[in-house]
Amino acid sequence: MTHSLLTVVLAAGKGTRMKSALPKVLHPVAGRPMLAHVLALAKAAGAARTAVVIGPGMDDVRKAALKVMPDAEVFVQEQQLGTGDAVKAALPAIAGHAGDVIVLYADTPLTTVDNIARLRASLDGGNQVAVLGFEPDDPTGYGRLLTDASGALTAIREDKDASDAERKVRLCNSGVLGFRVADLAGVLGRLTNANAKGEYYLTDTIELIRADGGRAGVVTCAAEDVLGVNSRDQLAEAEAIWQRRRRMEAMREGATLIAPETVWFSHDTVIGRDVLVEPNVFFGPGVTVGDGVEIKANCHIEGAAIGAGARIGPFARLRPGAALGADVHIGNFVEVKNVKMGDGAKANHLAYLGDGSVGAKANIGAGTIFCNYDGFFKHQTVVGEGAFVGSNSALVAPVEIGAGAYVGSGSVITKNVSAGALALERSTQEERPGWAEKFRQMMARRKAKA
Ligand code: UD1
Ligand code: CA
Repeated sequence: MTHSLLTVVLAAGKGTRMKSALPKVLHPVAGRPMLAHVLALAKAAGAARTAVVIGPGMDDVRKAALKVMPDAEVFVQEQQLGTGDAVKAALPAIAGHAGDVIVLYADTPLTTVDNIARLRASLDGGNQVAVLGFEPDDPTGYGRLLTDASGALTAIREDKDASDAERKVRLCNSGVLGFRVADLAGVLGRLTNANAKGEYYLTDTIELIRADGGRAGVVTCAAEDVLGVNSRDQLAEAEAIWQRRRRMEAMREGATLIAPETVWFSHDTVIGRDVLVEPNVFFGPGVTVGDGVEIKANCHIEGAAIGAGARIGPFARLRPGAALGADVHIGNFVEVKNVKMGDGAKANHLAYLGDGSVGAKANIGAGTIFCNYDGFFKHQTVVGEGAFVGSNSALVAPVEIGAGAYVGSGSVITKNVSAGALALERSTQEERPGWAEKFRQMMARRKAKA
């Protein structure tokens, strides 16, 4: 029997400890809001439907949810009366759903598809409710998983409600719960707030379901899988864990990272095989790296597509819209933005290439600038195939350098250059034979008199 999956993502928390104008769940890990990580997880775990529970006035959270998951069902929890009350806010989705319900927290971005698959396997095994449990270094503050002599889960006891003996239990509730009960809405309706915090605890569903004759199970996971983010230092911790996982994955898939701990990926970085990444490289969002690419030390790369066999850096900056063909070379202190470069094109030293295109096998000399901006508008620079732009040239856009043309060093090019031509824009060099020796003698005499 296959069960349809509804995930309920709790995102109503204000996250005051972040000290931020941005709602907590929109703070990014690997360049993407934590909420989006959790929604992506729901999808990857096979959710047919996803409900997101937000607080009143959290329109930016609603928008962020719908942006990454247009068919998400968003519900508002009017008052923060506890996790059970938060799930109740999604009752319209729950009541109409026959199958599994998995509850996730939007501030817990590192949970894995495997965690959820194992939780659902526990439901397949005959449990009506299953909890993802873990053993934190310090269990203070977490709900404890209480078991009977046979090891079956009997209840989850919140820290504030626990006896001293119960507090000694190390196995804790991660917050991720899975349900496969005929009437979850009915169970939620029976929750009370007669407890230390005066809240409707979702965790009380364990005892209610067992009282109805149901069974409860525990599935354990690593503590890092269920790290909840309440503060900026925990955000950095989540980032560190995410990055470590991603580096391992990149290496498993055939990239060499010389110093993996210094390479920073984005949530959507795509990396080919036999890519070599030297130390201190940062990938912002939207980067694709082809096979056999070499990225030398200290590069910042975002929104760029890098063709197979290209060589980037050291100290290169690729910005959004950099589309590099195969075997392109981008050297030190070169910035490329919104420029398409054909196969084998080169800009090896000290250049700004912004808005335009560079044909295959063209060579851009050191110090070349695409002057793309007049203070009001951006304009295009087009360099044809096989063209050679001499060092320290300023190409004032809009301008076109024809295929195979040469631009003499130090030129300020304001007019189009025909294919195959030489364009020079500088004063003619003059030479005065013997001038230097005469000059030195004159100055020496002047100094002797002084
Ligand atoms: C909860 C669990 C606890 C578990 C811990 C793991 C309950 C009663 N307790 O405790 O067993 O060990 O998480 O971190 O479930 N939320 C809402 N609306 C509310 C209350 C909470 O959306 O009215 C959301 C919060 O934004 C947060 C999550 O639910 O993302 C957990 O809420 P929180 O108050 O932090 O629960 P804990 O006391 O930490
Ligand atoms: Ca919490």
